[in-house]
Amino acid sequence: MLFDSHAHFDDPQFDGDRDTVLKSLKNLGVGYVMNIGADLETSKAAVALANMYDFIYATVGVHPGDAGSMTDEVLEQLRTLALENPRVRAIGEIGLDYHYEGYDEKVQETCFRRQIALAKELDMPIVVHDRDSKGNAISILREEGVKNGVMHCFSGSAETAKELVKMGFMVSFTGVLTFKNARRAIEACGAVPLDRLMIETDCPYMAPEPHRGERNFSGYVGYVADKMAEIKGVSREEIAQITTENALRFYGIEK
Ligand code: NI
Repeated sequence: MLFDSHAHFDDPQFDGDRDTVLKSLKNLGVGYVMNIGADLETSKAAVALANMYDFIYATVGVHPGDAGSMTDEVLEQLRTLALENPRVRAIGEIGLDYHYEGYDEKVQETCFRRQIALAKELDMPIVVHDRDSKGNAISILREEGVKNGVMHCFSGSAETAKELVKMGFMVSFTGVLTFKNARRAIEACGAVPLDRLMIETDCPYMAPEPHRGERNFSGYVGYVADKMAEIKGVSREEIAQITTENALRFYGIEK
């Protein structure tokens, strides 16, 4: 059974056939899905999905792209969602994203730190999104002394991956591993010990080859497992087993 450790089934791209897609997953070998919140609204939607399907769990959090929406009231609602719903297993996705024009470093940093504090208060792991932050996200994680986190959709260098492992982090890979220009991600994956690896789709985005550009879903997480098995020189069964065990341990889920 595979564990898709990062998915967005609340996305409008699934509005037409969400239930059909979700019900197809078990037959495709997917036993668990972590549905990730990215703002207050999608966090609520993630919790609703987790309460509807026994194989779905949820995270709540505000993505750096929506850092401007963070207020005392939003933080309080995230806390309540996490406290009142046992299927909420982490705070995320949170972090820094300097990719698109118009971002505000200070606003993103404050939003990130407030949610790190929330995770500490609730004794929960965090799911980190770091895009083009020039090392700032990792500096903040160090300053805050965070040890219980996952760097999702990892696309950095092998050196950075090793640094994260030293900090106690998990490192998670998407279908990017299967892309033709994936040399860096492949090297990074090679540098992470087996017991720190997780697999994810980040669906509906990031569909792996040979489905690149299509709508992604957890049924494609096996392509990530296949590529990871090849990189690590172990069997597909071993990668499936270890990444599922890693995600269960990380998110505190009993089999
Ligand atoms: Ni995501």
